[in-house]
Amino acid sequence: MAEKSFKYVILGGGVAAGYAAREFANQGVKFGELAIISKEAVAPYERPALSKAYLFPEFASLFLDLLLHSKFHTAIGFAAPARLPGFHTCVGSGGERLLPEWYAEKGIALILGTEIVKADLASKTLISAAGEIFKFHILVIATGSTVIRLTDFGVQGADSKNIFYLREVDDADKLVEAIKAKKKGKAVIVGGGYIGLELSAVMKINNLDVSMVYPEPWCMPRLFTAGIAAFYEGYYANKGIQIIKGTVAVGFNADADGEVKEVKLKDGRVLEADIVVVGVGGRPLTVLFKGQVEEDKGGIKTDSFFRTSVPDVYAVGDVATFPMKMYDEMRRVEHVDHSRKSAEHAVKAIFASEVGKSVDEYDYLPYFYSRSFNLSWQFYGDNVGATVLFGDNNPSSENPKFGSYWIKDGKVVGAFLESGTPEENKAIAKVARVQPPAESLDQLAKEGLTFACKI
Ligand code: FDA
Ligand code: NAD
Repeated sequence: MAEKSFKYVILGGGVAAGYAAREFANQGVKFGELAIISKEAVAPYERPALSKAYLFPEFASLFLDLLLHSKFHTAIGFAAPARLPGFHTCVGSGGERLLPEWYAEKGIALILGTEIVKADLASKTLISAAGEIFKFHILVIATGSTVIRLTDFGVQGADSKNIFYLREVDDADKLVEAIKAKKKGKAVIVGGGYIGLELSAVMKINNLDVSMVYPEPWCMPRLFTAGIAAFYEGYYANKGIQIIKGTVAVGFNADADGEVKEVKLKDGRVLEADIVVVGVGGRPLTVLFKGQVEEDKGGIKTDSFFRTSVPDVYAVGDVATFPMKMYDEMRRVEHVDHSRKSAEHAVKAIFASEVGKSVDEYDYLPYFYSRSFNLSWQFYGDNVGATVLFGDNNPSSENPKFGSYWIKDGKVVGAFLESGTPEENKAIAKVARVQPPAESLDQLAKEGLTFACKI
């Protein structure tokens, strides 16, 4: 089979690939030098849309719910579900939307619907499932994550129909079809993390009867304190979502057509279900490179310029375990802000090195966010040490607004805010970056947002 050769290849066509492509163009990549190889059939897009606006119902069916429950600004947001080409990168950060035509104009080859099944870094060769051979001089690995499946643990019945996972636009399309087919049906969401919370909300907005199941004592334990979680659990309960904590799904019963009908829980309960969505975590896609490149903490180890242990091979986004300069620690981050910034940083480093120059070390301030119903939170920094909660976190308040600080060694190292204005979110970001001293936890709790706004 014919061999294609490129100076630069980005392997993966997700968020990092889109932002890397834009930076390649900014740096003056020449026509024909760059290729993006992706198993997805579409140009890079803003993946976060898939668990939010992509799953909104059509306007007509939502109208009544909006009148009953939502604020006007949310009504506009919910008016139409997001669809491609509306959210191709780089609109998520307020940038230009890169349509396939943009790649063509720049001479960037978009090689879509192409899964690479073999990578040989020593001979700089990638081979696709169809047997195509791609050669590169410089490779940027941007393969992201894949979902952890219940079938991986041999959960009985986990391969029944209408049990969904959500990673790519194809997965979202299948879920949209199921939501249409199972109107007013019962949805069980397995997992209490990002997918669990965002999907429970969006399924409820679609008028399904929603239950959420997770093993921990409170939702999103990776980040939330018990106090933060209590707000979201209360808010979701007020919306009519049933929350079942401290247990897991151990099996599924299906009907004669193989469609899921029941979820069996470890505590003995059985839940009826027409649709199940599973969000029990992700796993970085490093498998192609096993034994060829150094790994750390489950990801591909890089330096502060996203160079791996193999010359001319970079790794960015979810797959990279990189030096988090602020905390003097190697970390992997599975969030969109880092995927964008790491991609841009790597491309700048590539071009600088070609002219014997260098760029500054990557100095990342962790930033995570989520949105559901008409809630929206942001978190910056590190969630370690003691915590204080401030503000109105009563889930029944008309306009709840609250936050949390994390304090380590007398300094504020992390900050969380629900329903902040853009200025307030900037203020908490600054706190996490500057790490101001905290006189006392009581004082910090009393001052709340005022503390951040004066930094
Ligand atoms: P990403 O997963 O975006 O892209 C990887 C690409 O590589 C995919 O196109 C994949 O098909 C391709 N690929 C993999 N292996 C391949 C192979 N062998 N051959 C060819 N192609 C291959 N974060 C956040 O901060 N806020 C949010 O609200 C959300 N929301 C959100 C919703 C949903 C549904 C998901 C799944 C994830 C989020 N995230 C998020 C996380 C965020 O989207 C994620 O961190 C970034 O997409 C990571 O970008 P990458 O480019 O590293 O991987
Ligand atoms: P996650 O790690 O956020 O949450 C996994 C959750 O699964 C855990 O909190 C736990 O409650 C639950 N769990 C684990 N084993 C279970 C079991 N056997 N039964 C029931 N529950 C179980 O992962 P996720 O929510 O699946 O998200 C997948 C990826 O997508 C992550 O990389 C995440 O960062 C990303 N994502 C991010 C956002 C965001 O940043 N807003 C939104 C959606 C997805």
